[in-house]
Amino acid sequence: LSAFILTGTFAQLPTTSHAASTDDTPVWSREDAQNFTLTDENTAPNIDSFTDVAPDYWIWDTWPLRNRDGSIAKINGYYVQFALTASKEYTWGGRHDHAEIRYFYSKNGKDWEMGTVPYDTDKALGYRQWAGSAMMEKDGTIHLFYTAAGRKDEGPTFEQRLAKTTFEMDYDNKEGFQVTNNGDHQILAEADGEYYETQEQKTGSIIYSFRDPWFFQHPETGEEYIIFEGNTGGDEKTLEEKHIGDVDEDVPAGAEDYNGNVGIAKAENEDLTEFELMPPLLEANGVNQQLERPHVVQKGDDYYLFTISHQFTFAPGLEGPDGLYGFHANSLFGDYEPMNDTGLVIANPAEDPFQAYSWAVLPHGQVISFVNEYHDENGNFQQGGSFAPTLKLKLKGDTSEIKREMGEGEIHG
Ligand code: FRU
Repeated sequence: LSAFILTGTFAQLPTTSHAASTDDTPVWSREDAQNFTLTDENTAPNIDSFTDVAPDYWIWDTWPLRNRDGSIAKINGYYVQFALTASKEYTWGGRHDHAEIRYFYSKNGKDWEMGTVPYDTDKALGYRQWAGSAMMEKDGTIHLFYTAAGRKDEGPTFEQRLAKTTFEMDYDNKEGFQVTNNGDHQILAEADGEYYETQEQKTGSIIYSFRDPWFFQHPETGEEYIIFEGNTGGDEKTLEEKHIGDVDEDVPAGAEDYNGNVGIAKAENEDLTEFELMPPLLEANGVNQQLERPHVVQKGDDYYLFTISHQFTFAPGLEGPDGLYGFHANSLFGDYEPMNDTGLVIANPAEDPFQAYSWAVLPHGQVISFVNEYHDENGNFQQGGSFAPTLKLKLKGDTSEIKREMGEGEIHG
């Protein structure tokens, strides 16, 4: 989440519990998160114009409708993507306070048309709905996982809970897309204060996280999970040796307030309404406050954990770009190591370090994102708010390489 620096002061809490970092939780250490360099392999081509898919709306975080096994789904021959949207009557920066999820559809996977909000906004949880994921069962039931951000009657506050609703979607030539059978909205998980920080435990000035649920069915065991963005829980923030690694400089004061992690919760039932929080898959204590929209891509014995992060969320003393970061292990709960040594997988070009954001890696290495802020061919600053060109990423062992650029928002099965 960009431009969300909170300035409120937070009461000092008594030290009742310790951070739930276990000795074997893999880390992205200060030693790893150094010396990021832009190369041909990790730098996206320049964007200097784009097609505005929905001229009256801002579009940002996007995710495709998938099948339970993670493959890309189609409804009557149409690909479907969901995205955070807000009317352009709100400012670019203000869009986060008014986010609603809309769907988009396309026959060829690259020319997109906007549909509606597929749920009743009065019944949806949260003051606004933030990012998530979407999965369709064989019987056509769609599960839309999202973040309930704030509470309906409280305005745009920053509490975050993982939520879900269900519905069905159909297409016919006369009526176009129809959403039917809207189900309840349910909370799936809330921060526990042990593995995952609660809002009350937060220190430092950047928004805390318990958001962005991403559904994942384990390809070998069939067990189902949601992977999400969290911060390390506990009332005491001390960095351990493993969070720092072998570095020459002292860790600046305040670095311990930056405690992003990648959370995981296990589904306890087929209907995906009950989940149990598990220890995080990865933590970045002392390194970065926000490991946003985390997701796992499996390829044979290789498990890739991807997350997006911002320049402004790196802890004091560290400098990294807005980018897609990746971690590699040989099993879902493996010992994740940063890809390409530092973790950097995709960065924006040096001339426009904020041109795209919210990359998500799909099957076959297609990486979607949205156009953020860039300069056009005349050097004029532009706000984006639509689908960015898809990038094709090659994954090999613990390394990656951008191979080519595809159409805007392009996806294939
Ligand atoms: C990423 C993000 C998500 C969040 C959404 C809110 O761009 O910060 O983590 O769900 O934007 O607008």
